[in-house]
Amino acid sequence: MAKKRILSGMRPTGKLHLGHYVGALENWINLQNEYESYHLIADYHVLTTKLDTSDIYQDSIDMLIDWLSCGLDPQKSPMFRQSQIKEHTELNLIFSMLITVNRLERNPTLKDQIRDLNIENVIYGHLGYPVLQSADILLYKGNYVPVGEDQVPHVEISREIARRFNTNYGEVFPEPEPLLSKFSRLSGLDGNAKMSKSLNNTILLSDEPETVKAKLKKAVTDPKKIRKGDPGNPDICLVFSYHKKFNSEEAHEIDVNCRSGALGCVDCKMRCAAKISIFLEPIIEKRKYYEDRINTVVDILQDGEERGRKVAAATINEVHEKMKLG
Ligand code: TRP
Repeated sequence: MAKKRILSGMRPTGKLHLGHYVGALENWINLQNEYESYHLIADYHVLTTKLDTSDIYQDSIDMLIDWLSCGLDPQKSPMFRQSQIKEHTELNLIFSMLITVNRLERNPTLKDQIRDLNIENVIYGHLGYPVLQSADILLYKGNYVPVGEDQVPHVEISREIARRFNTNYGEVFPEPEPLLSKFSRLSGLDGNAKMSKSLNNTILLSDEPETVKAKLKKAVTDPKKIRKGDPGNPDICLVFSYHKKFNSEEAHEIDVNCRSGALGCVDCKMRCAAKISIFLEPIIEKRKYYEDRINTVVDILQDGEERGRKVAAATINEVHEKMKLG
C-alpha cells in the first residue's frame, strides 16, 4: 500500500529555536519514515506580516540548515521554497474562488494575530493566508499536516476547500487532517507561554554552551523561591519544565530537592543548561558541517525543488483537466 503523505511547513524567520524543535521538528523527524513527507519553506507567507524581503533568502537557508542538522533526511523528503514552485500561486488563485470572505474573517488564528501584532488594516493576502496554506497542502495531496494547536483552523479551511473543489469539479484532493505534536509547546525564558523570536525569549538550536548558560541564568523561576533553602514549587517553574523535556532521568530528584529547598535555583539552572547543551551538541556540530559546505545545502534545496515541482505540476494538470481548462 502506498504511504500516506505529509505536508509540513514553516515560515522562514531565520535560525530556529528549541520551541520549533519541541513543537514541530521533533515530530517531523519521527514521522519521516512512516509517511512520504514534503517539507515546505513558506517564504511567501512571511510577506503577510513582513514586507521587507532583504533577509528572506538567508533566513530560508538558515532554517534549512537547522532542519538538516536536527535529522530531517533530504534523500527521503524533498525540501523546497514556496516561491520557487509556481503552482502554489496558481492553486491559491483557484482556491480563492472556493471560499467566502466571511469564512476567512472568522478564522481565529487571524483574529489572534490582529490582536497580538496590533494590526489596524488587514491586507488582502493576510486574510487569504489559509487559502495559500491550503494550496501548499493540497498541491502535494497531503493526508496529514503536523502542526501546533494554532494552525488547526487553517487545516480545517483546507478540508473545506478540498471538499468544495471535489464536489464542484470532481475528486482530486484528500481531506487533510492535522497531526498535533505530543509535547505541548515550550515556554519562553521569560515565562511567556510561547518561545518566540519576536519576544526575544528563545534558546536557539545553534546556541553554544556559554550562551545557553547565560540565557538560563536569566530565566524566570518560582518567584517565591528567593534563595537556596527556600522551598520551591516545580509545578510552576519554567526551568523545571525544561528539565522534564531535556533531563527526564533526573526530573524526579530535582522535583524533590527543589521542594525541600536543598537544591538552589542557580545549581538547578546550570544542570539544566548542561543537559540542553548535551542535546544541542550534535546539532551544532552538524550545523558547522553544513555551514562549511553551503553548496551542498543549495544542491539539496534545488533537488527538493525539482522533485516538488514534478508532484505539483501533476496535480495542477489534474486540476486543469477536471476544470476543463486548457
Ligand atoms: N502557517 C504555518 C505556520 O505559521 C506555516 C505553513 C505555511 C504551513 N504553509 C503550510 C504549515 C502548510 C503546514 C502546511 O506555522
